[in-house]
Amino acid sequence: MADATLGGSTEAISATELAEIGLRCEVDGEIATITLDRPERRNAQTFATWSALARIGESLPGQVRVVVIRGEGPSFSAGIDLRMFTPEGVPGQGSFGTVARLDDAAFEQAVAEAQRGFLWLRRPDIVSIAAVQGHAIGAGFQLALSCDLRVVAEDVKFCMKEPALGLVPDLTGTKPLVDIVGVSRAIEICLTARTVGAEEAYRLGLAELVVPGEELPAAVRDLAAALLATNRDAATATKRLLRAAPGRTLEEQAAAERAEQALRIRALFASS
Ligand code: ACO
Repeated sequence: MADATLGGSTEAISATELAEIGLRCEVDGEIATITLDRPERRNAQTFATWSALARIGESLPGQVRVVVIRGEGPSFSAGIDLRMFTPEGVPGQGSFGTVARLDDAAFEQAVAEAQRGFLWLRRPDIVSIAAVQGHAIGAGFQLALSCDLRVVAEDVKFCMKEPALGLVPDLTGTKPLVDIVGVSRAIEICLTARTVGAEEAYRLGLAELVVPGEELPAAVRDLAAALLATNRDAATATKRLLRAAPGRTLEEQAAAERAEQALRIRALFASS
């Protein structure tokens, strides 16, 4: 695998910098694998994690088509670093106490910056896959929800814990959750902060595939290979269509299909 220093359109982020934050990023041809790499803290996330994720997205090499997000150790991610709830907070990053004292504009900016780490995973030019084992709690669940696809181990435990801690889920997870399971089930899952296991996750559409834990890497590799077997530009255009479909009427979507197909067919057959 290539060095983790990325070289896309914006500033690169070094492997050393990522390691300090508890992340790794390896690019192997058309696949980038981002690893939450703080297993001793169950891959708890901080504001630095989210800024780094955003920078990874901005600096991905152009050839990357599949982005895999995985967690080292027994858990995908135990959510936000609980030190945020303490007066001391996370060294260099403050605490919820400091965030609470921000004025409206600064608060808005801080949360928007955190959300940038999650939003890019929906980009049409990539397919993002969350490989999830063990706990995916709060920010961990939302990170998995931000991906296009979720491949989960049989021991997966999704939990939207924020309401139990007095917070709302604000890391862009509420929309995919509602889009996938519907408003009523989303209310029930979030407001009870209960755990959703593998069988239920599969039944609800929160997981595309459930496999034994030891088979998770191979299952993700197989899925990535299948995704890479399709035409790159057609895949991008199709994802753009599918992502936009829920917000459009049938007529609008049909028009969007025509527009995308015009581009495709002209690109494929212009010279023949
Ligand atoms: N933040 C900081 N440290 C954490 C976190 C976290 N979110 N989760 C676990 N750790 C640390 C533990 O303190 C422990 O450290 P220690 O070895 O120094 O005692 C270590 O990681 C291992 O954790 P255990 O609890 O011993 O591991 P276990 O596998 O038994 O349990 C579990 C895992 C269920 C994830 C548990 O750690 C847990 O409940 N964590 C907190 C989950 C949480 O409430 N997250 C916030 C959600 S809300 C949001 O994300 C916005």
